[in-house]
Amino acid sequence: MKGLRLIATGGALPGRTVTNEELSRTVDTSDEWITTRTGIRTRHYCTEGENAATLAIAAAKQALQRSGLAPADIACCVCATLSAPDATPSVACQVQAALGLPENRPALDINAACSGFLYGMAVARGMLTTLGGQYALVIGCEALSRLMDPADRSTCVLFGDGAGAVLVEATEEENVGVQNSYLRTDGQGLPFLHMKAGGSVCPPSHFTVDHRLHYLYQEGRTVFKYAVSNMSDITATIAEKNGLNKDNIDWVIPHQANLRIIDAVASRLEVPLDKVMINIQRYGNTSGATLPLCLWDYEKQLKKGDNLIFTAFGAGFTYGAVYVKWGYDGSKR
Ligand code: ACO
Repeated sequence: MKGLRLIATGGALPGRTVTNEELSRTVDTSDEWITTRTGIRTRHYCTEGENAATLAIAAAKQALQRSGLAPADIACCVCATLSAPDATPSVACQVQAALGLPENRPALDINAACSGFLYGMAVARGMLTTLGGQYALVIGCEALSRLMDPADRSTCVLFGDGAGAVLVEATEEENVGVQNSYLRTDGQGLPFLHMKAGGSVCPPSHFTVDHRLHYLYQEGRTVFKYAVSNMSDITATIAEKNGLNKDNIDWVIPHQANLRIIDAVASRLEVPLDKVMINIQRYGNTSGATLPLCLWDYEKQLKKGDNLIFTAFGAGFTYGAVYVKWGYDGSKR
């Protein structure tokens, strides 16, 4: 196996759409603040019966159906998520059961926060290489509305729920699919973006609930600074190492955390915004799902041979960039 080609996309969004105006009725915020500081206008929230696994299953079913493959063709399933419905078992196990993927294949979740999809592609590639098989499902799925403090205006306006799935294929061709990956970790970032309670250090109790410690905590200004510098640097590095520049980059696919971060990454590459995939205005930050949801939204505009740079930054801190040569004309799907 030489490369990993992306061959089909799928996506799913939960039923409830929440506007900035709706949030401004419950916390001290405004459509104007949210739009100008983040670029977000609406986001989707899970309703009764929906969660990260139901979204993952819907997105994966669509990717499988669009690929024309059968469940038996799938050699492994990797789900990137930080908001699984259960601490264990994994979302990937639920996907395996729901899609009828064969039992003698591996399925697992990984948690690399907002960089999870990029890490997931690397994990899938590793499994196909070591265990064999031709096709893998890589899914990013989140139900972040369930982890946010609805009374904390600094986080509750940012996040949304959704799932994106990509079917990838091991290929002997060199000039298609994933060409180069940089995945990085800076564990010093823990205090700035984490859940203080609910895990095994500080298990759930009346105290943790009373003090709202089971919600996602973020020191936004610090995370913003690291996100801009790390995403810009890693994207510039992967571009330089692969002879890519504003003239031959067809698409930049940045993690959708804040339109100002996306702007900063694009301007560092001198790539105009019409070559940048942006859907944050409709979905907010769906963490591990943002990158596959971008592909799902923009698939029709992608052409065989396009040069794509993915880049992400998230809790950990984790971050990375991946250079992909696109493998098919999306308009023909
Ligand atoms: N409405 C109105 N005012 C608000 C809101 C709100 N929703 N939220 C914060 N404010 C106020 C603050 O209280 C503060 O007021 P003060 O100056 O009186 O103290 C003021 O606005 C400015 O606050 P900042 O936090 O400095 O605002 P900033 O411009 O940095 O925007 C934001 C905040 C949007 C969170 C930004 O910092 C950001 O995008 N950070 C990075 C997010 C990110 O990339 N996360 C990583 C991935 S997520 C993951 O891995 C799960």
